[in-house]
Amino acid sequence: MSTPTQSPIQIRRKLIAGNWKMNKTAADGAALTKEIVEQVGRETAVDTVVCPPFTALESVRHVLEGQAVKLGAQNMHAEKNGAFTGEISAEMLRAHYVTHVILGHSERRQYFGETDALVNKKVLAALANELRPILCVGETLAEREGGKTLEVVKTQTEAALAGVKPEQITSVIIAYEPVWAIGTGKVATTAQAQEVHAFIRSLLTALYGAALAQKVRILYGGSMKPANAPELLAQPDIDGGLIGGASLEAKSFVDLVKAAMAAS
Ligand code: PGA
Repeated sequence: MSTPTQSPIQIRRKLIAGNWKMNKTAADGAALTKEIVEQVGRETAVDTVVCPPFTALESVRHVLEGQAVKLGAQNMHAEKNGAFTGEISAEMLRAHYVTHVILGHSERRQYFGETDALVNKKVLAALANELRPILCVGETLAEREGGKTLEVVKTQTEAALAGVKPEQITSVIIAYEPVWAIGTGKVATTAQAQEVHAFIRSLLTALYGAALAQKVRILYGGSMKPANAPELLAQPDIDGGLIGGASLEAKSFVDLVKAAMAAS
């Protein structure tokens, strides 16, 4: 009998997203993007997204005109507009031709106090504005060592998806990012990553049924590099990567896009 993870993986196009975090000025971001699009700008076998800081969205957007590479943001506010000093709304992102938005990144949760309830509001607001959320979930080292990985991932995933309708779920991209692997050089083993990815897909199956769950992309994030990507991307439930450090240089980012093409 076939299980969901044995279904053809071709139904999910691989996706490589660069999370630049608080790096690159508008000019530096445009220069990096130029180098990326020169090499993989028209590639459509894999979805490629760059997520600059807000201040570089406009300059990067100009470089992306006519290219297949998409523009993402790293965060947004859940409300439409109003007295929220320092914040940016979904509508403002859309006006910059943003198509994707990273939500619930562990750095937002850890340093800016974002809760599951807040992440859920943002996911719903993004979807209502036709932005694709890249929803981040993942356990800390203490949680992994305490045997709580699956429990934490279940809570975060279910809470963030509350109220997301079946017809919206395939617009959501989930990124499994073990917090202990982010920026540390410690990558999860392929077995550790695949186990959690398959678990997330089983949660999606319980919530939305197998047919829809099979269509949702689940990315791995945490020290993903050209050297470790091929093995990770060969796993049945790993549909791409959310890349921090290695997205800041064209060569490593392009090599990751090429690794995703090779794994497709
Ligand atoms: P990293 O970051 O690739 O530098 O580990 C990934 C992320 O935080 O999205």
